[in-house]
Amino acid sequence: MNKIINQWQFFKHREKYLKLGQPLYSRYAKDCFLFSSENKKYIDFLMSWGSIVLGHADKGIEQVIKSKIRYGLNFNNHLFIEDELAEIFSSFFSFKSKLAFFNNGSDATTSAIRIARAFTKKQFVIFSGYHGWHGWAQPNTNGILKEERVNSSKFRLVGHEKILNFINKNNKKIACIILEIPIRSKDALKVVKEIKKLSKQYKFLLIYDEIKSGLRLGFTPGISLYGIEPDILVYGKAFGGGLPFSALIVKEKVIKNLNNLNMMATFWGSPLSLYVAKYIIREFKMKDLAKNLTNISEYFVLNFNRIFKDAGIGVYLDEYYSMPKLIFKENERVMNKFYKLSFENGLYIRPNHCWFLSLSHKKDICDLALKKFSRIVKVLRK
Ligand SMILES: Cc1ncc(COP(=O)(O)O)c(C=O)c1O
Repeated sequence: MNKIINQWQFFKHREKYLKLGQPLYSRYAKDCFLFSSENKKYIDFLMSWGSIVLGHADKGIEQVIKSKIRYGLNFNNHLFIEDELAEIFSSFFSFKSKLAFFNNGSDATTSAIRIARAFTKKQFVIFSGYHGWHGWAQPNTNGILKEERVNSSKFRLVGHEKILNFINKNNKKIACIILEIPIRSKDALKVVKEIKKLSKQYKFLLIYDEIKSGLRLGFTPGISLYGIEPDILVYGKAFGGGLPFSALIVKEKVIKNLNNLNMMATFWGSPLSLYVAKYIIREFKMKDLAKNLTNISEYFVLNFNRIFKDAGIGVYLDEYYSMPKLIFKENERVMNKFYKLSFENGLYIRPNHCWFLSLSHKKDICDLALKKFSRIVKVLRK
């Protein structure tokens, strides 16, 4: 054991989180419950980094996979499901678009950056959130080319004057801005408007990264929230229902002017993921599930915050649709105690990461989790 180096082996807080009681191995999961290798049952508030929205081991998804798996898993040429799904995604937008399907969100965001650089013939990338593990998105980690390090930069959008000044000063080298949607800022609308204006003026591309928010907030989170069209959009996670899925949507006018671009791989939008995505989109459309998901989360966050506020403890969930983030106003000792007690009480959360709710977090399960947090509060107060 202990040979695996991907995921969080190199993660700097790994040992600390394990000490706090975070289980390292899972055995299985059903709905919003996760069972560790020691068979301890947890209410899962990470849901596979938000990729599971219907619930673990969903029966409908199982049926789709069972019905398709016997016809082959991967092909050289295209399948009709690709065209079918491309039509479905295109129907979300009023502009003409071209699409590609990938596996990871990082593939899709990186292909968007590649296209932006090829289209504008400029290099510099401005990003605002987490967009994956590839070099341009992790310029300050080890193993990255110097050219990548100096050709991309992260900016906070809160207090956005800094980013606007940077654009005005460096406009000749900027290929694109990629924004994680939705933007966690009261001024989000103003920021997007100003960036869009500058993108036209200085001829760089605007990219919406909806890898996390796509489906959770509906089919077009950025356009619905800000009323502004980007040049490229990327979708991910939730559409795959636990299978790897991401999609790149590019305005036709951008694609038309590209040549000598090589983006191909053996595993390229797996057919099973595409069938699952089609099923999930239909479920969400028919049952208005994005709204249900936001309602569940609002209920949970409101009551969670009430418990901690009533107890006078400086801990709250920053509401952010079904992806709230825990904020601590307390010292590290209280924070560590909170996480230790959460794991002990069967609540699966990752310190310093947003939480993810799903449609399987039904009201009775939210109430059960809230009861556990009420118990935790009593110990924290001592
Ligand atoms: C907004 C956003 N973009 C891109 C990514 C990268 O996706 P992946 O982890 O599938 O490569 C993530 C992952 O969490 C994300 O949240």
